[in-house]
Amino acid sequence: MTSSFTDLLSAALTARSELVARLHAEQTDAYRMFHGSVEGVAGLTVDRYGNLLLVQSFHEPLTAEQLTELETFYHRSFPGFDIIYNDRSQPNSRIANKLSNEQMDAAFEPREAQELGVTYRIQARHAGQDPWLFLDLRAGRRRVMQEAAGKTVLNLFAYTCGVGIAAAKAGAKQVVNVDFAESSLLVGKENSRLNHLGHTLRYVESDAFAALRQYSGLGQPRVVRGKRLPPFPKLEKQQFDLVVLDPPRYSKSIFGVVDLVNDYSALFKPALLATAEGGTLICTNNVASVDRQDWFDQLQRSAKKAGREIRDMEWITPEADFPTLDGNPPLKIALLRV
Ligand SMILES: C[S@@+](CC[C@H](N)C(=O)[O-])C[C@H]1O[C@@H](n2cnc3c(N)ncnc32)[C@H](O)[C@@H]1O
Repeated sequence: MTSSFTDLLSAALTARSELVARLHAEQTDAYRMFHGSVEGVAGLTVDRYGNLLLVQSFHEPLTAEQLTELETFYHRSFPGFDIIYNDRSQPNSRIANKLSNEQMDAAFEPREAQELGVTYRIQARHAGQDPWLFLDLRAGRRRVMQEAAGKTVLNLFAYTCGVGIAAAKAGAKQVVNVDFAESSLLVGKENSRLNHLGHTLRYVESDAFAALRQYSGLGQPRVVRGKRLPPFPKLEKQQFDLVVLDPPRYSKSIFGVVDLVNDYSALFKPALLATAEGGTLICTNNVASVDRQDWFDQLQRSAKKAGREIRDMEWITPEADFPTLDGNPPLKIALLRV
């Protein structure tokens, strides 16, 4: 007898058949197979990365019976794939469940996944919590690849440099990746090696505020309110043809506060000033409760204050493996011609 859980997983797979055929034809084997919040199990996601199926639960753990049912379903549809379950329903979304020794080997095995002909390093488990490639941003990386040839590119909050790797693969002249996490930039370097990208990419291990203030020409003081700031890399003023600003929801450091709900402008203004006249700024906001139009109105006000014009704009929408109930995806991606 088929239970309703299996029915939901199966319906999600059927719903993707056209998309998946298209993705495979363009050398993509990384996509979301089950987006539970819309497809029937809130907080449960199943992502394919090459021969790995990564199952994550964010609201409550799967029961042993549910996990067995899920594994039975996917083993039948994808024989030979590894299925790894990461329960992230505890506070801070930290992975909480133990795996068998055999599963641990599979979880820590370095793998490769393809997206739009680009190879990305993937591990089901590593020192951090999040997968090394965020799949809802595929639409953004796709657009970056259409834009990047011959351009200078600044990739802010680069994480494992997915956007920067895509840009370099598409023929960017120079790509600068900024992130304060050395471990994430190391994965970016590995991604560059996997794609034979040579010296196109640069990795700046820095607080994004410190880097942006220097690139934009606003300047980063060494002492603020009598307090000496920790050392940061010195960077020359530079404007880029294409800037990508994809920050986390909230992050506080001595250099500034990333707060996508209350103060997007703190990042947007210097990012805009680091974008060349006639250039393009792609920025994102992944906070579901932020209304798309309200956010764009804010961007326009902020641009005006900074003395820059938004000449044209375009929304980039996550692809069909991230279905929505109301046409408003939590991840908003705006492409601005400035
Ligand atoms: C959600 S990820 C960004 C995703 C990334 N843009 C991508 O394409 O996958 C958040 C990243 O921001 C970095 N980060 C957070 N606050 C930062 C800050 N103040 N300066 C530099 N990096 C920061 C983290 O280290 C992490 O790599």
